[in-house]
Amino acid sequence: MMQSFIHIAAGLLFLLSLQGLVRCDDQEFRLVRYLMSNYDSAVRPSLSVAQPVAVAFRLSLLALLAMDERHGVVSTSCRITQNWNDVHLRWNASDFGGVTTVRIPASQIWRPDVILRNKPPSPSVCRTFCWLN
Ligand SMILES: *[C@@H]1O[C@H](CO)[C@@H](O)[C@H](O)[C@H]1NC(C)=O
Repeated sequence: MMQSFIHIAAGLLFLLSLQGLVRCDDQEFRLVRYLMSNYDSAVRPSLSVAQPVAVAFRLSLLALLAMDERHGVVSTSCRITQNWNDVHLRWNASDFGGVTTVRIPASQIWRPDVILRNKPPSPSVCRTFCWLN
């Protein structure tokens, strides 16, 4: 009898904690839907045509992979971090359960045209995710 009570209590606790998780995910889901419903990644995120979008650019050298002095080739592993303010991706956190940060694929939002001029013949550049906050 006592054992089944403990099982039921444990099951209820599990369901309650699961509900907390689902509610949190639901807020994030609603937020991403809200942000992306009318978003066009081709439109520059600026309030007016004359206003530029300031982009902070940082290149971090992670590793020196190889150095070919004879051919003047240096192979490195780098991380590029770019920060800018997208005026089309704003929300009020209190309308979305206090969610202040979401992570979405970079391909879905506007990105600055930054091109690596000395890129290798077979570029090994990978785009990952953008943090919105
Ligand atoms: C955010 O939403 C809350 C509740 O709807 C409201 O009280 C608050 O003024 C809003 N904040 C801004 C900056 O709009």
